Amino acid sequence: MKIAVFNIKGGVGKTAIALNLAMKYNLGIISNDALYPYENFIPEKSVLKVEPDEKFPDIPGNFKVVYDLGGYSDARVPDILEAVNVVLVPTTCKDDQIEITQKALENIEQYTDKIIVIANCLKPGEFFRVQKKLKTPHPVLPLNHSRGFERLKEHKKCIQELAITPLLKSAYGPVIGQLLEIDNAIKEFGEL
Ligand SMILES: Nc1ncnc2c1ncn2[C@@H]1O[C@H](COP(=O)(O)OP(=O)(O)O)[C@@H](O)[C@H]1O
Ligand SMILES: [Mg+2]
Repeated sequence: MKIAVFNIKGGVGKTAIALNLAMKYNLGIISNDALYPYENFIPEKSVLKVEPDEKFPDIPGNFKVVYDLGGYSDARVPDILEAVNVVLVPTTCKDDQIEITQKALENIEQYTDKIIVIANCLKPGEFFRVQKKLKTPHPVLPLNHSRGFERLKEHKKCIQELAITPLLKSAYGPVIGQLLEIDNAIKEFGEL
């Protein structure tokens, strides 16, 4: 299974979503974002940073990886988008961000139609508006704003693993169920 997380914009939750998936399903992370301090969060052995002048490595078919792609133009990215089972496209929900995401989707659609959009950092009641404004044929799944994404880095565990007690589960609110829906949507494209 190969998953890419991509949007041309930074700060939309690509790394947060990639990290949570990698921790939950024990995926390797491959990133062209040389500055990101992954080694602070997960053991370095499961993270491969690809330098700007390097080729992305060939990954055998049975390997499970998530590509956390930096939010900028990179000539190596189209090949990755074509090669993966599915591309997750997180967006935050301000109108100008949604417009940027629509442009990103047009770009990604040149290489694949296996796309899941994640309406990230949602506040309660916002999803319908965002879904309507996005006007995309691809599935759009909600992911609320949650403190869990900060805790994940602190505790080095995925959010689902952190929410083991009923108290913590309620603290994370709907996010646990939303992450489950996202996992299920990903599983339509391959085995996690
Ligand atoms: N659903 C969320 N709820 C709360 N914080 C989030 C959520 N998604 C991302 N974040 C936080 O927003 C910031 C930017 O996210 P990040 O994953 O680094 O974005 P990107 O990789 O797209 O640049 C980080 O501090 C991250 O922890
Ligand atoms: Mg990032």
